[in-house]
Amino acid sequence: MTAQPAHDHLVTDRSLLSTKAYGTGQHLSARQSLYQWQTPRHDLPGIVVAELKDTHGAVADVGCGNGKFVARVRQERPDLTVLPMDVSHGILAAIPGAVVADVQQLPIADGTLGAVLALHMLYHVEDQARAVKELARVLSPGGIAIVSTNSGTDKRELEDLWRRAAGDVLGTQHGPARVQLSARFTLEDAPTILGTVFDDIRTIPLPGVIEVTDAEPVIAHLASYEAWAGQMGVPFKQTIERARERVNETIQAEGAFRITCLGGILVCQ
Ligand SMILES: C[S@@+](CC[C@H](N)C(=O)[O-])C[C@H]1O[C@@H](n2cnc3c(N)ncnc32)[C@H](O)[C@@H]1O
Repeated sequence: MTAQPAHDHLVTDRSLLSTKAYGTGQHLSARQSLYQWQTPRHDLPGIVVAELKDTHGAVADVGCGNGKFVARVRQERPDLTVLPMDVSHGILAAIPGAVVADVQQLPIADGTLGAVLALHMLYHVEDQARAVKELARVLSPGGIAIVSTNSGTDKRELEDLWRRAAGDVLGTQHGPARVQLSARFTLEDAPTILGTVFDDIRTIPLPGVIEVTDAEPVIAHLASYEAWAGQMGVPFKQTIERARERVNETIQAEGAFRITCLGGILVCQ
């Protein structure tokens, strides 16, 4: 799957990110909670904590969102100083010690961190080359950057569902593709982009299948793209309602609606 230049600037639009998309944690939580129906379940915060086993000192979580990873690292590694950072002020409200900061210009001195996390966030960054340089700049010798994103093939059934539902609304076979966030920084592209700065990159693939017998978690996931509704080229709410009908039809016919997932974590040094 390729990046969609038409949507590119909207995925990185900072005013949109910090208001409609991530002004609160509501949309992010809807996307995160779909994974409770995935087999196998991957404990992402647990994997990050395990990768931090040799890390000491301070760890920044850049683009920390609703603080899911911050809370877990603080709980399991109270010896580390965790620095939560994000461009969206509103989403940081409940995270102690969080500061507004952009990964393209981190307010951190050179060579001071044991690790830096950039989890499911680099696809929102306009200048990824600069962001990756920043991640490396703030690390002390031997420090690690932990990055995550999704494959270009991730949740392709959702893309298909959206295009068919949009087609039903527009009276065509397939409607336009929806905005795909991770298309700007896929698991396949990530090693090349990170490899401009880091010598050693280890990918941990996290495949799975989501299976639901109730349409609501899938519909909540689609609805979480509301920030980009005006750019989808189809009435958003109507498409969501049609998607709900299609998911229910599949559940009735096949007993479940299935979504194939492929995410991954990259550990960089
Ligand atoms: C998909 S969420 C991921 C949140 C969290 N890291 C996680 O994996 O659950 C992306 C987050 O990155 C933030 N973000 C986007 N662009 C950013 C930038 N240039 N610098 C720092 N944070 C950014 C957004 O505000 C949002 O909270």
